[in-house]
Amino acid sequence: MLASIKTNNLSPTKKLGMMYFRVAIVLFGAQLLMGLIAAIQFLYPDFLFEVFDFSVARMVHINALVVWLLYAMIGSVYYMLPDETGEEAVGLGLGKLAFWVLTAAVAVVVLVYIFIQVGSGSEETIWLINEGREYIEAPRWADIGIVVVVLIFYYNIFFTFMKGRKTGIMTVMVADLLALAGLYLAGMFFTDNISMDQYWWWWVIHLWVEATWEVFVGTLAAYALIKIIDAKREIVEMWLWIEVLMLFGSGILGLGHHYFWIGTPEYWWEIGALFSALEPVPLVAMFVHVIYDWGKEQGAHGEKPAIKNGPAMAWIVTNAFGNFLGAGIWGFFHTLPQVNIYTHGTQFTASHGHLAFFGAYATILIGMMYLGVQGAYGVQRMKATFNSKMAIFLITFGVIGMTIALTIAGYEQVLVERAELGGGWDAFFTAQDLPWYLQAQLWRTIMGVVTFVGFVYLVLDLLTIGTKAKSQEV
Ligand code: HEM
Ligand code: HEM
Ligand SMILES: [Fe+2]
Repeated sequence: MLASIKTNNLSPTKKLGMMYFRVAIVLFGAQLLMGLIAAIQFLYPDFLFEVFDFSVARMVHINALVVWLLYAMIGSVYYMLPDETGEEAVGLGLGKLAFWVLTAAVAVVVLVYIFIQVGSGSEETIWLINEGREYIEAPRWADIGIVVVVLIFYYNIFFTFMKGRKTGIMTVMVADLLALAGLYLAGMFFTDNISMDQYWWWWVIHLWVEATWEVFVGTLAAYALIKIIDAKREIVEMWLWIEVLMLFGSGILGLGHHYFWIGTPEYWWEIGALFSALEPVPLVAMFVHVIYDWGKEQGAHGEKPAIKNGPAMAWIVTNAFGNFLGAGIWGFFHTLPQVNIYTHGTQFTASHGHLAFFGAYATILIGMMYLGVQGAYGVQRMKATFNSKMAIFLITFGVIGMTIALTIAGYEQVLVERAELGGGWDAFFTAQDLPWYLQAQLWRTIMGVVTFVGFVYLVLDLLTIGTKAKSQEV
């Protein structure tokens, strides 16, 4: 079905980007379905018990999330590469082969996750079934495969960069991708000391989402603003360098906010508190950047609307807000150790996790998919359709609804389980049975359904908007 998007107008490198986008959107759908199953299990713990357990649904939900975001990120890089460098990818044949190898591996891993999951862990299961590191649970054989595929991807990008034009955007991108890929290695070696394991595991998770991925979306926003509203390259690139400086300045040592209670030395309290509290600053800069450029370019074009791709722009503006709110504000809420001692590992964390991943990453990557569709149909201007509007409204409304519901559930846990009952085993279950918690979980499930309906509109729109825009053009 997704093959119905015509890509004849695209160069071979961009076509490869579109292949990654297609897999990404399928995995996004799978992610949401798994989330819905897990959400229902909060309300009815017997639902699919021993058939499809919560542990499995949750695991597939969050691993599918990470994998689809990575697919969409790789897709975006291939898509923008010819525009930025003026060259087609070096070694494209190998890149295509890597795509198929990776996709086959992902399919096998997901099937294994779903069908062979319950049972005790051993050295063998680490290699064949599940490595047991939240978000990046791929078994070791797949881990090694991923490294090989990423090396091929990096070879494509780096040598094309060296051969072609070296824009600021591409320079940041190439350097950032090296760090992003390198960090994956920190999540690969095994130790049975849980503190040490968590210590390194956070290098992947935190240094991805709060340093390297943030810089990555900075480069996407810069590229997309040039494409969509003709923003001036000198201005977006200047912002990009400032953002890089600030993101790395606060994000790297901000890592300390995960080292408060896992057996790491106590100096992490101060380091984590200080640097992670600074993390919202670059997110404000990114927000100002997008809104400022938009307003300025819109004004500069006078009467004529300056936006060449309505839905992509809407998703990028949602990204600016979402990143600031989900990561910056919801992150800041619980980042000081004085607060985190109460909120740690409650539904409050989950509320932040949802709004941050969605706001900072899902949004802009969906925007990139719309840019891809515009390129694929070769249209000059692509206006938002009814489906585009339903998609962005329902998905965003649904995720915000889930975030609010989970914040309330977290609040209840903090007050009852942690503050009042002292955070023990019984306290945990008492808090989970109270009406405020259960009502919040019900609202999360309802808002999850809203999100899913929005997703259906999104798929429909991506499949049809190109043809519509094309027919309006002639
Ligand atoms: C887009 C960027 C971000 C994403 C995607 C993100 C996502 C997440 C996720 C999924 C978790 C839960 C991890 C787990 O499973 O244990 C988490 C934890 C946390 N995040 Fe973020 N986050 C982001 C940015 C931030 C920022 C900027 C701050 C601080 C200002 C922050 C503060 C925290 C803290 C303190 C925790 C630990 C919560 C706990 O103790 O339970 N995050 N984040
Ligand atoms: C149909 C909509 C969705 C539903 C019903 C849903 C439901 C769930 C459930 C039940 C969990 C397990 C929470 C726990 O262990 O306490 C979860 C975890 C998570 N979900 Fe979703 N989800 C949905 C959409 C999304 C979206 C759109 C994103 C991000 C783009 C996302 C990101 C996450 C993350 C990062 C976690 C781990 C959070 C943590 O451990 O702190 N989910 N979700
Ligand atoms: Fe973090």
